[in-house]
Amino acid sequence: MKKIGILTSGGDAPGMNAAIRAVVRTAYTYGIETVGIMRGFEGLIEDDMKLLTREDVGDIIQNGGTVLKTARSERFKSFFGQDKAIENLNKHGIDALVVCGGDGSFRGAADLSKKGIAVMCIPCTIDNDQGYTDYTIGFDTAVNTVLDAVSKIRDTASAHDRTTVVEVMGRECGDIALYAGVTGGADYIFIPEVPVDTGAVITKILEGVERNKNHSIIIKAEGVDISTEKLCDIISQGTGQEVRSVVLAYLQRGGSPSAKDRMLASLIGSRTVELIDADSGSRAIGLSGNEIIDIDIDEAVATKRQVDLELLSLIDNLSK
Ligand code: F6P
Repeated sequence: MKKIGILTSGGDAPGMNAAIRAVVRTAYTYGIETVGIMRGFEGLIEDDMKLLTREDVGDIIQNGGTVLKTARSERFKSFFGQDKAIENLNKHGIDALVVCGGDGSFRGAADLSKKGIAVMCIPCTIDNDQGYTDYTIGFDTAVNTVLDAVSKIRDTASAHDRTTVVEVMGRECGDIALYAGVTGGADYIFIPEVPVDTGAVITKILEGVERNKNHSIIIKAEGVDISTEKLCDIISQGTGQEVRSVVLAYLQRGGSPSAKDRMLASLIGSRTVELIDADSGSRAIGLSGNEIIDIDIDEAVATKRQVDLELLSLIDNLSK
C-alpha cells in the first residue's frame, strides 16, 4: 500500500483544510494511506506526524486555518534540517509528500525533490503571488473579507466626508488590492508593482470633491514603498480632508473559505493524489483557465506573477 505525507506551511490560507480533506479522501479511494505532518517542515524535522483517517478530515471543509497547523521553518533551510526531514520520511515509508503553501514552501519542496523525494505542491496563499496558476487557494476568500470591510468603511467614510486608506496584505503582489479595488469600488489603489505617485491620488480625490464627492476609498497593498501613516499625511495635506487609515492585516487570513476556494482546493487536492497514484514524480498543481494543470516545481517557482495592470485603468475609469 502506498503512503503519502501532507503538511501545510507558511502563512495559513482559507481552504487549506478543504485541500487536506480532498487529499485524504481521494487517497482513501485509491487505497493510499495519508500521514498528517504537524507545523509544516518543522513537524517533518521533529517527526511530529500521525495517520489521518477519512473521519479525521470530517467537518473541516468549512473552517479557515489548518488542522495540521503551520509554521515558517528556518531550520528546514539548512542541510541538517533537510536531511533530518528525509530521514523521517524514509523511516515512515512515505512515498510522496504533499506540500500546501506559497512560494517559500515550494522552494523547500524543490530542495527535497532534488534529493530524490517525490513532492507535490498545492498553491495555498492569500497573496495570489504564484505566477504559474491563475489563482491560489485562499485568495478569493481574502478578497471577499476585504470587500466586506471596505463596504463597512464606506458607510462611515461617507457619513463623515472622510477619505480612508485601507491597507491590505501583499508584500510583493498587488492582486488583493487590485481585485478588492475593482469589486469594492475604490477610487485609487497602490500596489508594489507600480511606483508610488501621491500627486495622482490627490488629483483624483480633488476631482471627486469638484462633483460633491467628499469621501474616497484608497486601497494600499502592504508591500508598497511608503508607510500608510505617511501616505495619510500627504493626502490630508494635499486635499485638506480628514484622512483615516485601517490596517486589515491578519483579519484577511481567517474565516470560512469561499465556494471558489473550496472548489479549487477540492479539484487540486484530488488531482494531486491521482498524480501520485500514477507515479508522476514531483509536480506543482494549479489552475489555468478552467483546467487543473501540473508543472515542474522549479518552473512553478521561477514563474513570476504578472499582475493585470489593465485593472488599474478599470478602477480609475469606474470611479470617475
Ligand atoms: O500569507 C502571506 C502573507 O499574508 C503576506 O501578505 C504577509 O506579509 C505575511 O503573510 C505575513 O505573515 P506572517 O506574519 O505570518 O509571517
